[in-house]
Amino acid sequence: TNIQPPEGPTVLLTGATGYIGSHTWLALQAAGYRVVGVDNFSNSSPKVLPRLDRLGTQPIVFEQADICDDTAMERVFQQHRPQALIHFAAFKAVGESTEKPLDYYANNIGGLVSVCRTMQRHGCKRFVFSSSATVYGVPDKLPITENAHLSATNPYGRTKLMGEQILKDIEASNPGWQTACLRYFNPVGAHESGDIGEDPRGIPNNLMPYVAQVAIGRRPFLQIFGDDYNTPDGTGMRDYIHVMDLAEGHVAALNYLFNQSESLTVNLGTGRGYSVLEVVQAYEAASQRNIPYQIVKRRPGDVAACYADPFHAKRTLNWSTQFDLHKMCEDSWRWQSRNPQGFE
Ligand code: NAD
Ligand code: WQD
Repeated sequence: TNIQPPEGPTVLLTGATGYIGSHTWLALQAAGYRVVGVDNFSNSSPKVLPRLDRLGTQPIVFEQADICDDTAMERVFQQHRPQALIHFAAFKAVGESTEKPLDYYANNIGGLVSVCRTMQRHGCKRFVFSSSATVYGVPDKLPITENAHLSATNPYGRTKLMGEQILKDIEASNPGWQTACLRYFNPVGAHESGDIGEDPRGIPNNLMPYVAQVAIGRRPFLQIFGDDYNTPDGTGMRDYIHVMDLAEGHVAALNYLFNQSESLTVNLGTGRGYSVLEVVQAYEAASQRNIPYQIVKRRPGDVAACYADPFHAKRTLNWSTQFDLHKMCEDSWRWQSRNPQGFE
């Protein structure tokens, strides 16, 4: 049985105009939630807003604010009175986090604390947290279950690990507080319309946006970070998940928080891994473009393989993924080819 959301509760999305936030916005509207978006555009474009307005089922309600600004967040809460919050806002570049750790702690930890304080003042007790498979560090066994050993190898990962711990402490001290910690694997793809998608600033850190920019001709070739891993073709394997499947995972998690009195920690992944070469081949097929590549040395900190055991999410949320790698590449390509320079 599908858990239905109650009649139009208001949910606040921090980081709402970012990659995952913007897609989740549309999924929540379609499920009957009233959405209020907050973002400071530190890693996104205001140009996503008119597109969301066009694609969505309700007019966009948006406040430009920094989550670290208590006064601004207080004003947003007073005005919109949300009954739940999904916390996407954070910095997310692993490499940058080792160069600017304080920026990452200030934004990801300081921002989380500020948002939770505001929620506490307003008696808002349903919190969905964007966690990451990065909290598993070097996985000790595959597929990865939620009770696997947790560790972090960089400041970004530590902000996610600490974030989860902070939320557990709040829960223990605040009766009725509920957290859904969603550990995303590798989100890729775009909304089917091709009107919103991932638009990284500068050189993409992640595989699929890089491949997309090679396919469209913005970059000459892909560098594949190592082909000597202990995997079938030697390249790294990851659990790529379509961003709309991920968005539906947030709807399911929010429905859970409104219908159960428990907290929750779940993997959001497909349960299967694809290698870098398989992604390149699938993207070539979807785009009908050639993707030149060069094998280079391993990227420090990378693991050979990482994929989820998605069973706990299936059992608790009645959620599982619908879209395969071909659809992920097809939708990424529709976005990339219609918007060669992203939102700009
Ligand atoms: P994103 O950068 O596209 O979106 C984050 C949004 O938060 C951006 O729009 C940015 O402008 C906003 N933001 C950042 N700091 C802010 C602040 N202080 N005040 C207001 N807004 C602020 O990233 P995304 O890929 O959509 O990721 C969303 C969340 O999911 C992040 O917490 C990220 O760590 C987590 N996550 C992402 C991935 C991934 O591969 N994309 C994987 C696992 C977890
Ligand atoms: C995937 C595969 C690379 C780029 C990162 C973060 C993780 C999470 C998701 C937020 C690997 C290879 C990549 C390139 C390549 N983010 N690759 N050439 O590293 O699994 O996860 O994003 O929480 O925390 O670490 O994703 O897309 O960077 O890499 O060969 O130019 O592609 O070596 O095998 P990753 P990715």
